[in-house]
Amino acid sequence: MRILGIETSCDETAASVVEDGTKEIAFVLASSKEFHEKTGGVVPEIAARKQLDFIVPVLDEVFAQVPKNSIDAIAVTQGPGLIGSLIVGIEAAKALSLGLSKPVIPVNHLVAHIYANFLSHAAEEITFPAVVLVVSGGHTDLVLMLDHGRMRHLGSTLDDAAGEAFDKTARILGIADYLGGAKLSRAAAECKENILSGTLPRPMIGRDNYDFSFSGLKTAAKRLVEKGEYSVEAIACEFETAAVDVLVSKTIRAASNYNSESILLGGGVAANTPLRKRMEIEAQNLGIDLFLPDIRLCGDNASTVASAAFFNNSPTEFANLNPDPSLTITD
Ligand SMILES: Nc1ncnc2c1ncn2[C@@H]1O[C@H](COP(=O)(O)OP(=O)(O)OP(=O)(O)O)[C@@H](O)[C@H]1O
Ligand SMILES: [Mg+2]
Repeated sequence: MRILGIETSCDETAASVVEDGTKEIAFVLASSKEFHEKTGGVVPEIAARKQLDFIVPVLDEVFAQVPKNSIDAIAVTQGPGLIGSLIVGIEAAKALSLGLSKPVIPVNHLVAHIYANFLSHAAEEITFPAVVLVVSGGHTDLVLMLDHGRMRHLGSTLDDAAGEAFDKTARILGIADYLGGAKLSRAAAECKENILSGTLPRPMIGRDNYDFSFSGLKTAAKRLVEKGEYSVEAIACEFETAAVDVLVSKTIRAASNYNSESILLGGGVAANTPLRKRMEIEAQNLGIDLFLPDIRLCGDNASTVASAAFFNNSPTEFANLNPDPSLTITD
């Protein structure tokens, strides 16, 4: 089955064609990131206008690679995301659905992040139950995946998402005004030894639940910067270590408590090297299979939308297909 995926939840405009949920036939992605660098954050109106600029050229590029009439269904991100951006993808999906007489499948953006794993590995190797850490710019969730379409929400951040904390701390450190997570990580990698080890808090690490909190960590990093005694690299390294300590510890605890067979990571922060390395070590210690998404598929893209649609297929009537900016992962 060939599914055309469309993703327009924020500042990426993407379209992909994926066969049977696992084989990418076409992958096209445009980003308006550079426009948001000027303002130090996404201005929703600008993001929506850029979606309008990009959506037709992106779809044209996909259809230059894959004939329109070979598509069996159209999958589109329904939410969470920015409403103006979501509308562009949803209306494009509806128009294509009408034109091609094919069904539309709405997809939760966070569930799509999880499916980067099913595109990066042989899908049958991923066994359930699986504990999934979805760690992105706007969300940090722990989810128990019992099967495709059967998810139990275990916990989430009570304030900042992990990616948001990376981005804000990068800004405080003067590393980047927008989306500084990867740059902060590169600065941290310059540190041969973490001379500030244990200086910053590991929020909620000892709490017997699966929730997170990152705003206090960001504020503590700001205080350290204000002291003016430590290098950018040293603070970046201790910040990253603290964030990774919490993410790994809570994920491993959930995997152990729920006797999970697999651990999966998804979302932009899943590209973080120390997070991947530490999770690998801890999962190995526990004897649980760890699946990491290809770096290319950690951020927003449409292949994951098409894959999620294949494994959770529920075509929707037009009347029910409206953007839902506040969608979360629910049981
Ligand atoms: N190597 C890295 N280390 C840490 N953070 C990173 C790295 N690479 C990307 N990120 C962070 O990932 C985030 C972007 O991820 P993603 O595109 O999944 O978020 P989003 O789509 O904006 O949010 P959401 O998926 O919650 O709606 C940003 O916060 C970015 O800084
Ligand atoms: Mg995302």
